[in-house]
Amino acid sequence: MTVKEIFETMDYGPAPESSAEALAWLVDQGDKFGHYIDGTFTKPGKGFDSRNPATGEVLAKLTQAKQADVDAAVSAARKAQPKWEKMGGAGRARYLYAIARLLQKHSRLFAVLESLDNGKPIRESRDIDIPLVQRHFYYHAGMAQLMESELPNAEALGVCGQIVPWNFPLLMLAWKIAPALAMGNTVVLKPAEYTSLTALLFADICSQAGLPKGVVNIVTGDGAVGEMIVASDVDKIAFTGSTAVGRRIREATAGSGKALTLELGGKSAYIVFDDADIDSAIEGLVDAIWFNQGQVCCAGSRLLVQEGIADRFHEKLRARMDTLRIGDPLDKCIDVGAVVDPVQLQTIKSMVDSNTAGHVYQAAGALPENGCFYPPTLISGLETSDQLMQEEIFGPVLVSSTFRTPEEAVELANNTRYGLAATVWTENVNLALDIAPKLVAGVVWVNATNLFDAAAGFGGVRESGFGREGGWEGLTAYTKPKGKGKPLAKAEAAMGEGAPVDPIDRTAKMYVGGKQARPDSGYSKPVWGKPGLLGHVGLANRKDVRNAVEAAAGAKGWSKTTGHLRAQILYYIGENLSARAGEFAARLDAMTGRKDGAKEVEASIQRLFTAAAWADKYDGQVHGVPIRGVAIAMKEPVGVIGALCADEAPLLGLVSAMAPAIAMGNRVVLAASEPYPLAATDFYQILETSDVPAGVVNILTGSHTELAKPLASHLNVDAVWSFSSTDLSAEIERASAGNLKRSWVNNAMATEWHEDQTRRFLQAATEVKNIWVPYGE
Ligand code: NAI
Repeated sequence: MTVKEIFETMDYGPAPESSAEALAWLVDQGDKFGHYIDGTFTKPGKGFDSRNPATGEVLAKLTQAKQADVDAAVSAARKAQPKWEKMGGAGRARYLYAIARLLQKHSRLFAVLESLDNGKPIRESRDIDIPLVQRHFYYHAGMAQLMESELPNAEALGVCGQIVPWNFPLLMLAWKIAPALAMGNTVVLKPAEYTSLTALLFADICSQAGLPKGVVNIVTGDGAVGEMIVASDVDKIAFTGSTAVGRRIREATAGSGKALTLELGGKSAYIVFDDADIDSAIEGLVDAIWFNQGQVCCAGSRLLVQEGIADRFHEKLRARMDTLRIGDPLDKCIDVGAVVDPVQLQTIKSMVDSNTAGHVYQAAGALPENGCFYPPTLISGLETSDQLMQEEIFGPVLVSSTFRTPEEAVELANNTRYGLAATVWTENVNLALDIAPKLVAGVVWVNATNLFDAAAGFGGVRESGFGREGGWEGLTAYTKPKGKGKPLAKAEAAMGEGAPVDPIDRTAKMYVGGKQARPDSGYSKPVWGKPGLLGHVGLANRKDVRNAVEAAAGAKGWSKTTGHLRAQILYYIGENLSARAGEFAARLDAMTGRKDGAKEVEASIQRLFTAAAWADKYDGQVHGVPIRGVAIAMKEPVGVIGALCADEAPLLGLVSAMAPAIAMGNRVVLAASEPYPLAATDFYQILETSDVPAGVVNILTGSHTELAKPLASHLNVDAVWSFSSTDLSAEIERASAGNLKRSWVNNAMATEWHEDQTRRFLQAATEVKNIWVPYGE
């Protein structure tokens, strides 16, 4: 073919990257791998083949870890941890930096090995995955360096169990290992069974960098090995993968005190408004859904296009699809490579084949005869309720629907159980910045898509999991506050008999939706104090929880108020409490039999003022990211928070949970101190006179054990906190698996309400949303 002809047809010639070095490395290792434990590779054992999905060829044999291997890895990590932590951030930074340098030095080998093992186009592994891996280690070398000065109250969690998927094998490893090591933890990591090779090459790099033995341990195997890690003696589990497995891990770790972060699936909306730069939006879609064959948790897999341009947009999109080149992942001219494994290919096929709705279009480009290839696919004209609009396909399949107004776009975008990412295309900056805060997602890209950087936290809300990876917020997931939390004191209600202190029956009602409410059960219990019978309180049941949650969910407007307004209201609550300080102090003394009521009231006023002070100051950040843009990290309220309040200090415990939560724009359902509930029922009189809108604060009385489960399992509750002296962490965490709500339960950290740890509360009361916008040249 002449050059002229090439220009005319725009045809291409293959430009294959050589696999020789990578295959030679596999041969050098004997084509068989054991685990990497305590700084050395174990002898290969019984296991399974790792195949190249583009050809079906066996690349290497991997070992399926047994319980003894996992135990050995965990104990190596345990042994290595104290020394690694004590070395200090600057010492650890040197190792992370050395790893980053070695990753850079061997970047081509890593890229080729990744493409061989996973099937992703070499252009992606070479230009996206591996550079981001290096960036992550450099960035976290810096975080280690800064830890002592910038996070003086933080310390390592200990040993972290980390389980990663197959779609970005080395990148997910980097996201897990780099921050863990930077903060002084040691790790046991399991790569996915389809794609373990770059993790094993990484182990080799750790040895080359002279990383102390046991700091990084890598065990291979399938989900059974994952389960062993989850059950092992680790302090934290970090998981990326399917929502179904994430839920199982939440249930399995319930009540164990293990920290947990879950980065799960998604069905992210890709919204195109009629004023968008259409050609850019089409190119964006190529990155959104055909990048990595659509096997991306935040893939823009759900196209929502404004009605007026829908036909033209789809037409252009189909034309673009036809130009996508599908084939050998090692060919540098290839756009779409192989799906990771025949199992995944079959899943995609059967999901598409079983769909009868809409119109299916598949790209015209020829598919290789062998290997796991699936054509880029568009299914247009779907309704929100269609299965493929809701279920994650995790393949190169885009589903699409249309909308008329921006309001409808938001409604459709949020009509999903997931909340990982969203993309907005419009030339109108007002529209983009109006829509971005309304999208329920952890990441929003404006006029771009699938951008990642170590400085910008990544993670989702709803059933896309919890916790962030990257940025300052990602470090929280690998640290805990210094020192041991004090155990919660078990408070017992006074028992008594005899005449009531006040002859008139005083049965304090609960407080729901801004009104006093009788318990649904119709039952109440006496509250005794030192002087005698102080009154009665209602015993809330499941129905009362539902009513309170409904009221809180309805008070959405609170989340949109300004920090300034919320501060004013919190100050006002403090002021009104101060005006009745003596009365509250006497009530506390009467209930607890102690004489520290006045002190507790004063501490409560202080805490209200501190939360008020923060309400308009706990700001987000703007991250400089290495693209033409910035990532604006906004702090958003979590939503509805259910909290079991501390028993021992009935007023301070209530205020400690309530004040920071509402300061950040959350609505709360508070279960009052179980033995001393009357401080809470007196307190709503203060709320009633302090301009707190109805439904923002709801107060229930009764048994924490009874209330924990309905609160934790309610789908409209977004987070549950427990400071109860009854350890309900197992029940709460298990029940919270339903909609994967955040939980903060009384392990060591939850005792923090003793001291003023408002920042920790503010953190628990907010989600960080990173909004990427074009900026500068
Ligand atoms: P998966 O969630 O089963 O696998 C991810 C990792 O978890 C692998 O390392 C696996 O060995 C491990 N694992 C499996 N069962 C486990 C258990 N019970 N306890 C602990 N670890 C366990 O994902 P799979 O089956 O490979 O893919 C199925 C679907 O999951 C995909 O079609 C896709 O929808 C979704 N997925 C989402 C990912 C994401 O990044 N959000 C990544 C991979 C898959």
